[in-house]
Amino acid sequence: MSNLDLLLKNISSNEKYPINFAELEQAAKEKLEVGPFGYIRSSAGGEETLRKNTESFAKYSIVPRFLNDVSSLNTEITLFGQIYPHPLFVAPVGMNKIAHEDGEIAVAKAAAKYNFPYIQSTVSSYSIEEVAAATEGSTKWFQLYWSKNKEISYNIVKRAEKAGYKAIVVTVDTVMLGWREEDVRNQFSPLKKGIAKGNFITDPVFMASLPDKTEDSIINGIVDYLYHPSLNWDAIAELKEQTSLPILIKGILHPEDAKLAIEKGIDGIIVSNHGGRQLDGVVASIDALPEIVEAVDGRIPVLFDSGIRRGADALKALALGATAVCIGRPFVWGLAAGGQAGVERVLESFLQETKVSISLSGVSHVNDLHKLKVVKS
Ligand SMILES: Cc1cc2nc3c(=O)[nH]c(=O)nc-3n(C[C@H](O)[C@H](O)[C@H](O)COP(=O)(O)O)c2cc1C
Repeated sequence: MSNLDLLLKNISSNEKYPINFAELEQAAKEKLEVGPFGYIRSSAGGEETLRKNTESFAKYSIVPRFLNDVSSLNTEITLFGQIYPHPLFVAPVGMNKIAHEDGEIAVAKAAAKYNFPYIQSTVSSYSIEEVAAATEGSTKWFQLYWSKNKEISYNIVKRAEKAGYKAIVVTVDTVMLGWREEDVRNQFSPLKKGIAKGNFITDPVFMASLPDKTEDSIINGIVDYLYHPSLNWDAIAELKEQTSLPILIKGILHPEDAKLAIEKGIDGIIVSNHGGRQLDGVVASIDALPEIVEAVDGRIPVLFDSGIRRGADALKALALGATAVCIGRPFVWGLAAGGQAGVERVLESFLQETKVSISLSGVSHVNDLHKLKVVKS
């Protein structure tokens, strides 16, 4: 559908629905109880990084070029030998049932419809196999939280590989949970409520590791699984021996860590601060990006998330050198507000605004976006 077609369809639909991030958040707030809403909205500590993530985008301004023929736009990117129709991904977000009963199934189906690769979280409400069965043929990656009990992690990775997932994303900024005051205020922990168990109760290695099969043991087992402060680079080398899939590290903020990742044979990185949910006060993700892109120097793909709220933000991250960007909270609000249809609306708008933004910047192939002039104030 062309931009004009979509605009006219939306304008003539006679339907009122949330359009931008603030409206989506408001619509979700009206649907959700205070605990789940707070869990999704909030971040760690005083939420300084949450604020910086979005505010920092305003420091970067695109300087467009005109009178280039932009009548056709090519948004295809190639990652690990596979062609992706556009550089927008769905970020791994766990425990989606707190937003909507259909949880990850609804999100993965919406992602499939708009060709957004779907990165499924370890702590999903639905299992790898359930999501795969609901979205046969669509591109999916798997996000791994590591465990002290490596055998469980390896088995989960094997299940993802068997289900046809195309890459493993190892999140390294969550070896313990960030300091999240809103959840204490609301006395809300989706982990403790058992909402993260989709991939665990279906895992024979995890279940065999428990003293018994009671709900309490399962939940304690998951909490124990997630706490892994001794995680280090050696573990990544071991994971490489366990899977033939490309491995990306999510949570890189320092150029030296990006270089180390390359040295250790990692296939890609995601520049991210987990949406400010882990260590408060860390650098805004968009501010960390340029130096990392420089350090990586095209050797591996550099994906990006944290703070992307609209297509124009995606354009800035791509112009600053990101290979692709991942959308987080906006789709979760879409899910809360309207289930699968709500996520579809968010993804369709994101895709369309990104395409319009690229074309209006004077670029007709995403691979040329790095040539775009960006000024920083
Ligand atoms: C409610 C929620 C749950 C999340 N769960 C996970 C997760 O399970 N694994 C992970 O790697 N990142 C997780 N993230 C972080 C996202 O992948 C992404 O880094 C973050 O949402 C980006 O920030 P933004 O949504 O503010 O743009 C979660 C984020 C939110 C908001």
